[in-house]
Amino acid sequence: MPKYRSLTSQRVNQLAPSGIRKFFDLLASIEGVISLGVGEPDFATPWHISEQAIHSLEKGNTKYTSNSGMPELRQELSRYLKDNYNLAYDPDGELLITVGVSEGLDLVMRAILDQGDEVIIPDPCYVSYGSCVTLAGGTPVMVPTNQENNFEVSAADIEARVTDKTKAILIGYPANPTGAVMPRNKLQQIAEVAQRHQLLVISDEIYAKLVYGVEHTCFATLPGMKENTVLLGGFSKAYAMTGWRIGYAASSRDIIAAMTKIHQYTIMCAPTMAQVAAIEALRTGEPSVLEMVEDYNRRRQVIVKGLNDIGLPCFEPKGAFYAFPSIKVTGMTSEEFSEKLLVEEKVAVVPGPAFGQCGEGYVRCCYATSLADIEEALSRMKRFLARHKKV
Ligand SMILES: Cc1ncc(COP(=O)(O)O)c(C=O)c1O
Repeated sequence: MPKYRSLTSQRVNQLAPSGIRKFFDLLASIEGVISLGVGEPDFATPWHISEQAIHSLEKGNTKYTSNSGMPELRQELSRYLKDNYNLAYDPDGELLITVGVSEGLDLVMRAILDQGDEVIIPDPCYVSYGSCVTLAGGTPVMVPTNQENNFEVSAADIEARVTDKTKAILIGYPANPTGAVMPRNKLQQIAEVAQRHQLLVISDEIYAKLVYGVEHTCFATLPGMKENTVLLGGFSKAYAMTGWRIGYAASSRDIIAAMTKIHQYTIMCAPTMAQVAAIEALRTGEPSVLEMVEDYNRRRQVIVKGLNDIGLPCFEPKGAFYAFPSIKVTGMTSEEFSEKLLVEEKVAVVPGPAFGQCGEGYVRCCYATSLADIEEALSRMKRFLARHKKV
């Protein structure tokens, strides 16, 4: 038998595997680990939300829905966006229900990019941003951000990277992995760059509800930006619904129509029971969200103070549920630090470079875990630093 040539595409062959996955494989092989690794709520989905989905299953509601999502969910979402942001999206044509923000990201890139088109993205950023662009045939163009500037991306730095191939700017605030939140005036400057160069802005606002003492600005609310923004939102984080796989995209008719074309051939529709749960989340979920946010805030204060106290300088994250301390005092790379900490003290954190080059020298600690675990993790890290601190 002749040996087969490689049957996987060049595009996929060249894609680096997610830095997070590699790390979790190692983690799975060690017992007794306190994980500050996985970026998901430790809460179960609020019961009243799950219950609606269970009732609907009991009633035999197990069929496909419209490609765009259940009309009732789109109407509820339209109301929610109006109530929260005073933005009027037509449920019929300007909203698409997706399998999480993950699907939304993939759809929007495939809907807008031709081969070689560029998308400008802050570094560090959520692991899938660059890969979604590459998989759609585009080129991610990274813009460095740093701790001195609170990991905010500057409009001038974005503008300096605009070429005649630039199609879009992809941002996600509150940010994973840094917890950074961008103030409205700085987002406004980005909107001006987008308008000057006729760029689309894709705004991943999955952490919109998870802000502490600051206000979240929805990018589409900036003057003139509703039509030129793709707002991606979801239920995974705020409603503790990661496993339901449900989210949405809101944008102009043209963009949503293009995204829906891909969605209808590849996905058909988001899971029906998850759509039912999402309706309930939008209608009655707010008090549960507020309770969880209060809890995250307590944990945030403990971890940020704790990290600074043990000698890992950590800027104050104002959103999401991540702390992003510098580990430069150890003289180790982020990967060395994370592996040694895991093996020696059984605490899992994620090396910053999993999120881009600018993450070197940092690790991501997710504090969506119990206060007891956070405190124990901090005391183990303190012990670890006593052995490894260089400066
Ligand atoms: C910034 C960001 N966007 C999107 C996602 C994926 O969200 P979903 O569960 O809605 O697919 C995550 C998950 O960690 C995230 O951190």
